[in-house]
Amino acid sequence: MIFVDAAIAPARKSGHIKLHGPEAFAAMRKAGQLAALALDVVAAEVKPGVTTQALDDLMFEFAMDNGAYPAPLGYRGYRKSICTSINHVVCHGLPDNKPLRDGDIINIDVTLIVDGWHGDSSRMYYSGEVLRRAQRLVEITYEALWRGIDAVKPGATTGDIGAAIQEYAEGERCSVVRDFCGHGLGKLFHDEPNILHYGKRGEGVPLKPGMLFTIEPMINIGRPQVKVLSDGWTAVTRDRSLSAQFEHSVGVTESGVEVFTLSPGGMHRPPYTPDQPLR
Ligand code: MF3
Ligand code: CO
Ligand code: CO
Repeated sequence: MIFVDAAIAPARKSGHIKLHGPEAFAAMRKAGQLAALALDVVAAEVKPGVTTQALDDLMFEFAMDNGAYPAPLGYRGYRKSICTSINHVVCHGLPDNKPLRDGDIINIDVTLIVDGWHGDSSRMYYSGEVLRRAQRLVEITYEALWRGIDAVKPGATTGDIGAAIQEYAEGERCSVVRDFCGHGLGKLFHDEPNILHYGKRGEGVPLKPGMLFTIEPMINIGRPQVKVLSDGWTAVTRDRSLSAQFEHSVGVTESGVEVFTLSPGGMHRPPYTPDQPLR
């Protein structure tokens, strides 16, 4: 996800949103499926005692073994292959040598570049036994992402996506993070349009077949405000309440939406048993 202020400036300047054809959709399918497979593979390793650096190492090796490159590595000075955001960390958590604890919830965000195209997806994972209220947040965030995806079709607007997410999340007495948004992607990691996870129906950019972007709502149990720690990356909730996020990369089709990053193993949400129903 990208910081909203920085993201909006270039969009105002050019207002150019790329429309992609079938070859790009095929390339996005390939990159998206590899990122989703990486998220399937890492599931078995998330447990108390494991360090997020070990997860980062595993995902770097996965990329190398599959002819891909982890997009975060070297991106704007970022020095890891994935983001690992635990408990009150909203996004961009840096893998390190601290072991996961029993009861942690963790978002793992993987972006793989395959043949020059970006597949960007993240899911939540449970480390050991997780409190019921944390599980509830994770389930609400998963559903919020899908409410957003369901809003995507030609003629709808980016505001329709944000409104669907915001109305649902706030209806469940949670809050939507405002400071980071989803983004166009393709050959670029972060492109136009910005996909805000809140908003009003009918506002924003009209969706057209061929647009490629992510939807990646960050939902908090408490208040929506975040701050970035002195490492320059780690974003946390100001009130230290729990935060969760899921992300898919999608394309607008003639009839609706294609989700590029569906789990090949049917491992959609925790606990990651294979061949789960999507909803
Ligand atoms: N994958 C994140 C996103 O969803 C971006 C991570 S950029 C990094 O957009 F530099 F923090 F890794
Ligand atoms: Co993203
Ligand atoms: Co991501």
